[in-house]
Amino acid sequence: MDVDKILAGMTLEEKAALCTGDTAWTTTPVERLGLPAAVVSDGPHGLRRTPENTGLGQRSLPATCFPTASLQASTWNTALVRSVGEAIAEEALAMDVNVVLGPGVNMKRSPLCGRNFEYYSEDPFLAGQLAAALIQGIQSRGVGTSLKHYAANNQEFQRFSIDTRVDERTLREIYLTAFEIAVRQGQPWTVMCSYNKINGTYGSEHDFLLNQVLRGEWGFEGVVVSDWGAVHNRVAALKGGLDLEMPGPKPLRVQAVVDAVQAGTLDVAVLDRAVRRLLEMVAKGQGAQRTQGFDIEAHHALAARVAAEGIVLLKNDGILPLCGVERVAVIGRSAEQPHYQGGGSSHINPTKVAVPLEELRARLGQASITYCEGYPADAAARPDLIGEAVAQAAAAEVALLYIALPSYIESEGYDRQSLDLTEQQVALIKAVSAVQPRTVVILNNGAPVAMGEWIDGVAAVVEAYMMGQAGGVAIAEVLTGAVNPSGKLAETFPEALEDTPAYLNWPGEAGAVRYGEGLFIGYRYYDKKGARVLFPFGYGLSYTSFAYSNARVSADTFMDVDGVQVSVDVTNTGCVAGQEVVQLYVHDCQADLVRPEKELKGFAKVALEPGETRTVTITLDARAFSYWHPDHGRWIAEPGDFTLLVAASSVDVRACLPVTMQVSQPLPSVLDMESTMREWLADPQGKALLAPVLEEMAAASRRLFGEGDGSEGLGLNIMDMFVDTPLVSVLEFRAGALPKPPEAFVADLLQQIRR
Ligand code: GLC
Repeated sequence: MDVDKILAGMTLEEKAALCTGDTAWTTTPVERLGLPAAVVSDGPHGLRRTPENTGLGQRSLPATCFPTASLQASTWNTALVRSVGEAIAEEALAMDVNVVLGPGVNMKRSPLCGRNFEYYSEDPFLAGQLAAALIQGIQSRGVGTSLKHYAANNQEFQRFSIDTRVDERTLREIYLTAFEIAVRQGQPWTVMCSYNKINGTYGSEHDFLLNQVLRGEWGFEGVVVSDWGAVHNRVAALKGGLDLEMPGPKPLRVQAVVDAVQAGTLDVAVLDRAVRRLLEMVAKGQGAQRTQGFDIEAHHALAARVAAEGIVLLKNDGILPLCGVERVAVIGRSAEQPHYQGGGSSHINPTKVAVPLEELRARLGQASITYCEGYPADAAARPDLIGEAVAQAAAAEVALLYIALPSYIESEGYDRQSLDLTEQQVALIKAVSAVQPRTVVILNNGAPVAMGEWIDGVAAVVEAYMMGQAGGVAIAEVLTGAVNPSGKLAETFPEALEDTPAYLNWPGEAGAVRYGEGLFIGYRYYDKKGARVLFPFGYGLSYTSFAYSNARVSADTFMDVDGVQVSVDVTNTGCVAGQEVVQLYVHDCQADLVRPEKELKGFAKVALEPGETRTVTITLDARAFSYWHPDHGRWIAEPGDFTLLVAASSVDVRACLPVTMQVSQPLPSVLDMESTMREWLADPQGKALLAPVLEEMAAASRRLFGEGDGSEGLGLNIMDMFVDTPLVSVLEFRAGALPKPPEAFVADLLQQIRR
């Protein structure tokens, strides 16, 4: 496909039409120029391919439903996530899809967000690495992706209109970083803008986010596509950097673009720029070889493997893995009606579904297994079901409770109102564990649930999230020990909703939501507050144990441009093979601005046989030590001391390595007319200039007031009072001691500073 030739041959009307979908899932073709339509299709963990011209809610073609992002994230295994991408791409080629609408990398600001099952983490570094892996996997087969939802779309409440009010440092460090990592490492064919406003401007026409940051700073070269229905003004969106409005057809929008160009209110160069990007995207899609089908069993097996590796063992008093059990009570409707995916645009029509109860039966040999529903599909109270469950649990050696949070509670389109399971489910768990202490709870939920009412009474808790179509296999393999669980939480499980970072600013009101907690979401918040949580970020149990030893750095003092390497030896000290996720956090000992206690900046997963030791090495670059400084308007790496924390979870630090970073380029001064005394004294150039001035003022003060500093009558420490006052204001109190008015005097000092 010759992009230049097609672009040159297109009429204004054809160009405008290309920038709006032809149908819900296709771009507009131009047959006379040999331009085919491109087909796009959800979703992040499998294809929701509906035939052209069908509605948004149409049942899609059979495709593999992989575990959703929250479970994929718990694998901390980028290679495995990449393989999911490769499999999804194979299915896309078989179903003639050019672009897969995923991954979603929005941060988990609150566990209440109904769509958190589709997102990876509360940590931008982890989310970015996983998203990049999925993008690389899908695009390695010549199928495109759509990194979404850009940006700061962290709730479903009023998602089409709410204004996310967030300061730039928080936006950069927390809400954009995952997108930045995924763009720089994955170069997705498209980025999908979000519905919401960000600081007053819709994501679909946000010049700062789309043109300045995404393209100007990160080098994104692809297409910006709207979320479905996110465009409000097509001309403003084109100017703001949005190339493709979806869904189509929208003839009035096309006409508005034609009219704007003809009226001179839209530069045709802006339109051509969008058209060229779209032509390049269509051309890329044409390069892939369509296939006649895909290996259903192989993809199902992959889905099982991913689920098994993502399942997080949260509690285990030793009851797991099950062995030698003869009488098992299986309780809970999701053992028969597996709850393996979420509601909304990511909802898949699976090729097949593994039923947890059947998969368990197949692996428990001669054991006698009873089953009962335990709780209904709706919110009804059913004491009769509890009575039945209690009887079966009491008669068994072990009770397995399969508890799934229903889609009427959490889904795309609406947020949860609490962290609670249903009342029936809580009553069921309590009643069963009261008669059967050997009770295991297996959870299927998209996001953390409260467990305080029952967790002390159960022997084990297995977090299986939304586990995909093969989750039934994975659960059975983990329960029976065929798979040693290695999942680690990619989000914090709080004890209670009121403990969560966004609690006081959720879900917003009067059309806006304030990100008042700033940088401090997830473990960043709980660390800073020293708050207790139910289960921390990075946590997960195993059927074996691991020892860390010989943690070391490549250099105790290093230059920012060189970075530093951290190595540690990990030994499997148990009796069964297992996998461990080594986590590396960076603590900044002292910074100009407040920083989280620690931040994840590296991780590696290692498989070890019993007794085996392997060395894990993680490299940190200058960015791992940097933060966004609003005064500098960029990421800065301040020289100084840091501590590198080698950890098995965010609260299980196995080694602390002190290092010192030196910088190759000293930071420019950011002093200005409003800078305080403290800021002047903290700035090397400012301090050198100010010291003699302060000395002269002190001498003049001694001449006037004797040895005192004139504060005796105030009963305070004069320096503490003035240190956080603008220098120019302090000098006003001693104007007489200056050669010129304070404003002019400070302006002179600023002139002498090299910027
Ligand atoms: C939805 C979702 C988006 C999805 C799109 C197409 O509203 O927000 O993630 O890709 O529309 O279904």
